[in-house]
Amino acid sequence: MYQARTLLSRSFASLSNYPLRVCIVGSGPAGFYTAEKTLKAHQEAQVDIIDRLPTPFGLVRSGVAPDHPEKQRSFTSILLAFILNYSGLYQIVFAIVINQFSRVAQHERCSFFGNVSLGSSISLSELRQLYHVVVLAYGAESDRVFHIPGEDLFGIHSAREFVWWYNGHPDCRNLNPDLKSTDTAVILGQGNVALDVARILLRPTEELATTDIASHALNALEESYIRKVYLVGRRGPVQAACTTKELREVLGIKNLFVNIKEADLVKTPADEEEMKNSRIQRRVYELLSKAAASASSQSSSGQRELHFVFFRKPDCFLESEKKVIHVSGVHFEKTALKGVGPGKQVAVGTGEFEDIDCRMVLKSIGYKSVPVNGLPFDHRKGKKQKRIIVDQLGLLLQTSTVPEETVASISEDLEKGMLSSISSLPKPGREGLLQLLDRRDVIPIPYSSWEKIDSVERRLGSLRNKPREKLTSWEDLLKAATT
Ligand SMILES: NC(=O)c1ccc[n+]([C@@H]2O[C@H](COP(=O)([O-])OP(=O)(O)OC[C@H]3O[C@@H](n4cnc5c(N)ncnc54)[C@H](OP(=O)(O)O)[C@@H]3O)[C@@H](O)[C@H]2O)c1
Repeated sequence: MYQARTLLSRSFASLSNYPLRVCIVGSGPAGFYTAEKTLKAHQEAQVDIIDRLPTPFGLVRSGVAPDHPEKQRSFTSILLAFILNYSGLYQIVFAIVINQFSRVAQHERCSFFGNVSLGSSISLSELRQLYHVVVLAYGAESDRVFHIPGEDLFGIHSAREFVWWYNGHPDCRNLNPDLKSTDTAVILGQGNVALDVARILLRPTEELATTDIASHALNALEESYIRKVYLVGRRGPVQAACTTKELREVLGIKNLFVNIKEADLVKTPADEEEMKNSRIQRRVYELLSKAAASASSQSSSGQRELHFVFFRKPDCFLESEKKVIHVSGVHFEKTALKGVGPGKQVAVGTGEFEDIDCRMVLKSIGYKSVPVNGLPFDHRKGKKQKRIIVDQLGLLLQTSTVPEETVASISEDLEKGMLSSISSLPKPGREGLLQLLDRRDVIPIPYSSWEKIDSVERRLGSLRNKPREKLTSWEDLLKAATT
């Protein structure tokens, strides 16, 4: 409370200088990028970034796998990677990202307020009353589902939950995936997230120990009995949704037995056509073929195993007879591809079925956004509406398209006079936000308080030869931020 009041009095000093009040919800790469562009394009704008977590950086903190090598990359390439659907995002130097994002957060016309949740701390309609422009850049915090029987059994998690668990996201620190009842895990989906989680399950833990992986996850992985991972796709190797760097990385795990059936590698003319049109698909297919050709026929003792399974779609999850409401396997229907042109071959069931026994399943079939009251939402696709909404309350944007387009839309609407209310209708912006949070006893965590969390994490990390030891509970994060 005290902190909110201090922030409030400080920010009143600059109250009337910034006629354009912009609020960005979400402090991941899209949020920071949009903030940076807005500050540059609109000298009269004051930008506030809010996030429900006390920590900024979204995906960069809780989505990127901890074992991904750090390479020198520029801010621009990080943003480009984000724009290109995060592909290659792992090549970020965390420190560089933080430096670049820090500069934005510490800009005199920009502020970060963590621990402010859209929906519970403040509603969308309140934000729209406080700001001329509200940009929703809070990403995809939920999971796509199969809608098949058994999906709620214990032992089945979404890959997002698993990723948040090993990355120390406070919402998933208590996930406790059972890595001890079984030696077999099934991962459904063959995108880069699926490869990330397969790698974390199979990689020798001594290679993870010096990363910023959450210590609860490292401890559990050190004791894990999982030796065999099935990576299952509903289509073929030509359609695998991963990219080459990530594939090479998982295939390169030390002492790993890789199994790919030669029969699955047979290409159809439609596959050839697809590969002609996509270098990535061609390279992924070549890598899989090479791995199949060079693999030994059987695993040797002590080897961990990665099985690529193609042309299978889950029909239902099987319940254990010994352990009620726990998963004991996945019942798959074999598929064949029905083609309607390159890139459009779809998997259809053949009526033949087969089971894979396992006690752990990770569903890695994509993320989806969470709906927010007051915003049109496509429930089928799990997406916020892309359309820009302008009304007397202000402009509302979301950034599932390129953040640059979002900023361009703001400029365009200002030029067209669609936001004429800016001159005729001043908005309270930051001051109003802080007053409202104060009334609700919500403690906003400014960037300077995140820096306190950061320094605690770095100090704890240095004791264990890690870049940082993430604080993983709300309580610890808030304590570090406010003391
Ligand atoms: N290291 C990195 O650079 C990195 C790391 C993580 C994520 N990312 C990026 O983040 C984005 C999201 O990745 P993602 O892996 O979550 O999603 P994704 O790339 O869209 O892959 C989703 C996978 O799930 C399958 N799938 C979807 N619906 C299904 C269903 N109903 N039944 C069976 N299978 C289904 C897809 O198969 P179909 O193709 O048949 O639909 C595909 O194999 C991607 O752009 C990815 O490249 C990058």
